[in-house]
Amino acid sequence: MHLQPQSDPVSKPPTAATVPQKQTLLIVDDEEGPRQSLRVVFKDAYNLLMADDGARAIELVKQNKVDVVITDIRMAGMSGVELLGQLKSVDPTIEVIMLTAYETVDTLRLALRLGACDYLNKPFDIITMRKAVANAMERRSLGEEIRNNGQQLQELQKELQNQKMVEEITRTRGEIYASIIHDINGPLTVISGFIQLMNQRIGANARLEGEDLDFIKDRLKTITRQVTNCIEISRRYLSFLRQNSEENPPVGVNQILEDLHDLVHVHPSVKDNDFSIEPLTQDVTVKINGTDLIQILFNLAVNGLQCTPAKHSVTIKGSYCPQALDLSQFVDGAEERLINREGFKNAAPLLALSVQDGGPGIPAAILPNIFDPYFTTKSASEGTGLGLNVVQRLVKEAKAVLHVQTKMGQGTTFTLYLPIAN
Ligand SMILES: Nc1ncnc2c1ncn2[C@@H]1O[C@H](COP(=O)(O)OP(=O)(O)OP(=O)(O)O)[C@@H](O)[C@H]1O
Ligand SMILES: [Mg+2]
Repeated sequence: MHLQPQSDPVSKPPTAATVPQKQTLLIVDDEEGPRQSLRVVFKDAYNLLMADDGARAIELVKQNKVDVVITDIRMAGMSGVELLGQLKSVDPTIEVIMLTAYETVDTLRLALRLGACDYLNKPFDIITMRKAVANAMERRSLGEEIRNNGQQLQELQKELQNQKMVEEITRTRGEIYASIIHDINGPLTVISGFIQLMNQRIGANARLEGEDLDFIKDRLKTITRQVTNCIEISRRYLSFLRQNSEENPPVGVNQILEDLHDLVHVHPSVKDNDFSIEPLTQDVTVKINGTDLIQILFNLAVNGLQCTPAKHSVTIKGSYCPQALDLSQFVDGAEERLINREGFKNAAPLLALSVQDGGPGIPAAILPNIFDPYFTTKSASEGTGLGLNVVQRLVKEAKAVLHVQTKMGQGTTFTLYLPIAN
């Protein structure tokens, strides 16, 4: 027999607007007597819903926010234990009290395993029953509070993360703009130098022929390459700002070293210094964006050339490392520093590319600061202090590692270790 919701006022689902503070109790029993006695006991304390079988109980739980269910274990049709399983699958956090008569220990165990919070023997005494329901209601509201707090905490954390990300992007944006200008300055120096040379060569000539024409053609080729370089630098940074870093195609190292030579040997800081690049005896490809590798080596080479006004040497060369590096050998100290130890993909075989100068060395007091943005010991017209900061960022992006070794009076070597592409 189904109860008629119209004839039983307590079966009407409560609405938040009418009874917001009261919790809801559902009583399920196929016998009218115990159902009505429970109704009398709880009608003032909770919003009551009544059902005379499992199917109706499930229906009510689906339609209303039910906090606690009291169900008889022994009912015609769906048993109380079966109902318990179904209730938990509709709402895993619902609290269920079982009313038992002569159940075996196994049945009770099963009920507890399925998540019943309590069981009371029939006939029950009112005090015990009230206590059991009050406990179940309290557990339910505590559980809800914990879940809400957890959710709120998660939302707060998410908000905080978003805020941090926005701050990080705003901060790196500024650094990136500065880096673009810094990086493009290298090729622009070459371009402007070449244009000056071409202007001198053309002079007052009305026509260009023979050697002069070849000279201009050759310089135009270099200028075109440098302009392409500028475009690629800005494209790389812009794509970084848009957060879509693309997978790098492997690049041949000897081609990079050749381009680097073209770029550095016309730089004003070469002067009468002894600048040389030794190509690899056996060319390899490495996993890094080609322009990034040129930028790293170019910055290190120019630093090497600018480290003293006295005539000195700067040499760039590479060597093959068949084994992964033993990073414990590199200890940061007065004459040594390792950049990107944590982010390094130390997978053999590796290529070591070193930029070595015979300059004065880097004093221990400033060695920890040389990679900081805007740290420079040069005059405002000579340096911005961004070169090594750009190098550091590119090294991290390539998952490479950079080792600095320096000795006062003897010089400095920067060695870049990169995974070789198979
Ligand atoms: N090979 C080197 N020998 C001695 N000191 C060096 C060497 N390389 C870098 N440094 C020191 O590190 C500082 C920072 O170098 P970084 O390349 O970041 O900036 P910069 O060369 O001063 O200016 P920018 O590269 O922006 O033109 C230099 O000013 C210099 O004091
Ligand atoms: Mg520099």
